[in-house]
Amino acid sequence: MCGIIGYIGKKNAVPLVIEGIKKLEYRGYDSVGFAVKTEQGIIIKKGVGKVDEVLSKLDFSEISGNTAVAHSRWATHGSVTQENAHPQMSSKGDIVVVHNGIIENYQALKQDLTNKGCTFTSETDTEVIPNLIQNEMDSGKEYIESVKSALKKLEGSYALLILNKNNNILIGARKESPLVVGFTEDGWFFASDIPSFLEHTKKVIYLHDGDLVIANDVFKIYNLDTGLEVKRKIATVEWDAEQAKKGVFEHFMMKEISEQAAIISNAVTQDMSKIKNVAETIKKARGVYFIACGSSYNACLSASYKFAKLAKVHVNVALASEFENYKDFLTPESLIIAVSQSGETADVLSAVKAAKEKKSRIISIINVMGSSLVRESDEFIMQNAGPEICVLATKSYTSQLVILTLLAYALADKLDYGVSKIKETVNHIYYLTSENTRNYIKDLAERLRYANHIYSIGRGLQYPTALEAALKIKEVSYIHAEGFAGGELKHGTIAMIEHGTPCIVFTSRETEKQIISNALELKARGAYIIGIGPNNNEVFDFFIKVREAEEANSICQIIPIQILAYQLAILRGCDPDYPKNLAKVVTVL
Ligand code: M6R
Repeated sequence: MCGIIGYIGKKNAVPLVIEGIKKLEYRGYDSVGFAVKTEQGIIIKKGVGKVDEVLSKLDFSEISGNTAVAHSRWATHGSVTQENAHPQMSSKGDIVVVHNGIIENYQALKQDLTNKGCTFTSETDTEVIPNLIQNEMDSGKEYIESVKSALKKLEGSYALLILNKNNNILIGARKESPLVVGFTEDGWFFASDIPSFLEHTKKVIYLHDGDLVIANDVFKIYNLDTGLEVKRKIATVEWDAEQAKKGVFEHFMMKEISEQAAIISNAVTQDMSKIKNVAETIKKARGVYFIACGSSYNACLSASYKFAKLAKVHVNVALASEFENYKDFLTPESLIIAVSQSGETADVLSAVKAAKEKKSRIISIINVMGSSLVRESDEFIMQNAGPEICVLATKSYTSQLVILTLLAYALADKLDYGVSKIKETVNHIYYLTSENTRNYIKDLAERLRYANHIYSIGRGLQYPTALEAALKIKEVSYIHAEGFAGGELKHGTIAMIEHGTPCIVFTSRETEKQIISNALELKARGAYIIGIGPNNNEVFDFFIKVREAEEANSICQIIPIQILAYQLAILRGCDPDYPKNLAKVVTVL
């Protein structure tokens, strides 16, 4: 949660951090703030709201400087107010900080600093950091030493950028929250992620936990524990700046939905050796555990059905936040498959750490290169979906499904067949995301826009799709939606069905008979039935045809619902890219 960016170099840093923070907005959008180092000192400007909203009220015309930082906030400690927005400053006004993460011992630190005479103006945990540094300086230590001792007192997680009004040094530090450095000929960027500075450079360093970076005329990285200088490899990013732009689309969500056919096509034309190797590792493991959150969890659940059905391989699927409960069963022979678009989800990282303590093997499936999860893994498979900016997982979800489906086919020694099956879906996915289909689904969105509840059901492989469909609808349109296994609604929730209640029914060749009986049960109670699958049926009030694709059904069938969710959001006046209360990367437990 929260996005941070900083720049120090020869250029005017102000437009660079403004432009950068706009691209980080998906990480949090409660409030936004800037600090610029000028000859007159550090100028701070901040406000509540989204970046453009806040920027329209701030005047930067007279302000320039070669060093600046910015922050977009997703509130954890303290409500959404101007005072709680970052940057946060020490009470003496010398030290300014932007922070992503949580300082767990902030209450004790705050009490101690208050006793020493510091005054606090916000409810944030962050405000203790500049005050701790200032306090160390007041005790006679020089600046860098003060930063080091202050950081050693912090418990919790942080990616930090620190400015001092009395010098021109930009300090960056990370512990369990992402921070990447971008190198340009004229200076250095520090940011929560790469797309925020991709326009300027593809040369990056992925900082490690415990790294403290000091940038002024020179650039040095120290390890906070040893105090020694460390060298980190400069990597070249494969993403290009155009991928992180909306292009002809009004919203990232629709752009990313539309990219799915091309991404899937690339995924099945790549070298399959990695898939084969991972399949071999799965075969040898004693106990396989998928761990993930949100949409990534739904992709794992779908994979567990495919592994069972195609390859007769049993896997456990756990929500990362519930993985604790499996800990006692882990051994060095256990295999953890952690699936995460961002590779930074705190629940996933914490589950992986617990598994590593038991010496279990970790394989991850991730979309963001250099993310923390990559570093925690013995092996990883890249999703190659390109940057996903919209808070909703769309292309990242289907690209996870592609990899997991290929793994299932590889486990069943039918990889070539699997590749051909998925390849066959590509043209159909182009059709499903075409303007024709979008217009057709728009009629359905008009019909559903005032609904209070939407239910979705599916059996077998369509059950995880029903869960994902409900997640997509509720997180972006704020209509209450729930997904169920086809047989499950009548065990309670059918009580909610009234005349006109919309129910989405996912069908497939294999599950058609049974799921149609479930649809009839709903229809008998007045439900409005939306069928998605290969064949129309008289029980459906609205039908979206999605060709039968066997194990690849899960990849195709979610697409009309992604489009429906988008259109519901638009019709209901919701911002599809930045749903309320959410953030793209959930870096808190
Ligand atoms: O980056 P991750 O895949 O680990 O993220 C997991 C979830 O936070 C994510 O899928 C979330 O549920 C999305 N908002 C779904 O659209």
